[in-house]
Amino acid sequence: MEKKIRRIGVLTSGGDSPGMNAAIRAVVRTAEAEGIEVIGIRRGWNGLINGDVFRMKGSDVAHIINRGGTILFTARSDAFRTKEGRAKAYSTCKLLGLDGIVMIGGDGTFAGGLAFSSEYPVSVIGIPATIDNDIGCSHYCIGYDTAANTAIEAIDKIRDTMQSHERCSVIEVMGHRAGNLALYVGIATGATAVLVPEEPWDFENDVAEKIRSARLAGRTHFMIVVAEGAKRKDDGSLDNESVGNGGAGYQLAGLIHEHLGLDPRVTVLGHLQRGGSPSARDRVTATRMGFLAVEAILNGKNNRIIVRQNGTLIDIDITEGLKEKNYLSEDEKKVLAAMTGSIR
Ligand code: F6P
Repeated sequence: MEKKIRRIGVLTSGGDSPGMNAAIRAVVRTAEAEGIEVIGIRRGWNGLINGDVFRMKGSDVAHIINRGGTILFTARSDAFRTKEGRAKAYSTCKLLGLDGIVMIGGDGTFAGGLAFSSEYPVSVIGIPATIDNDIGCSHYCIGYDTAANTAIEAIDKIRDTMQSHERCSVIEVMGHRAGNLALYVGIATGATAVLVPEEPWDFENDVAEKIRSARLAGRTHFMIVVAEGAKRKDDGSLDNESVGNGGAGYQLAGLIHEHLGLDPRVTVLGHLQRGGSPSARDRVTATRMGFLAVEAILNGKNNRIIVRQNGTLIDIDITEGLKEKNYLSEDEKKVLAAMTGSIR
């Protein structure tokens, strides 16, 4: 006989992203409609370990669909990586009678949930949320559209002054290991060149030649988009400490100055890309994913991730999903090459 679902938990984990609140809201509203209680778990998996939980009602999620960040706070949990930590987490689930947990976050969040549900009778359903859009099994992650538009809006402003002063601008965007955001934003802003972590760059071919080509075509301003984790070929000099703090951007600017005699200005967009009111796409996608996550638990599903594949939202097995690696869109790479190749 199918187990009656009475109470589920919801948590956010990992780097926050605009739209997480919309997903939380949808989980609570869907559950309420189905007569299921929702327990809010604060600060990711740590909330379960520490019993940092509270009952959520519709009023708790009023007026949050348009807010960035997460009302449940978020954290990365080292303790949850240990059996002892997961045992403590389960003691909270047992005490509260949690039948399932909706976990909103990235690959690391899902891997933790998979380990937990393989040890304890608690269903876990993942919702992909990261501005990097680098969860390979889902063609879309909550927050990506908002972050891209935030970066594009900022770069459009920089473009004004860059053109007025006929300067070279180096814009560093987020993306520690994934260049999806940099590639997408680079196309949208007409960048002279885009540098990504997946493809270590060669200064002469990937930067200098593109600036020269633009100059020969009559351009007097140049804009390079560089992901914070992009590294120069054969040069591990970019230490991890400087990732995210302008290391990639300033390294590139120094080379442009040294080899091309330009005087670049560097802008590191940083955590600006992580906040702000979610876009329509993120609000609606998050709401649909939150609804589907609760439906999955109600239908007795476990260890699933709600993903976007081939234009639709489906749920897939977590183990299979975690095997799929992120990759840059070949189509977007081709388009960028055409836009930044030998400009005639
Ligand atoms: O994973 C999303 C992300 O914003 C990355 O792009 C970035 O490198 C990282 O999180 C920053 O993490 P934190 O907020 O912990 O500095």
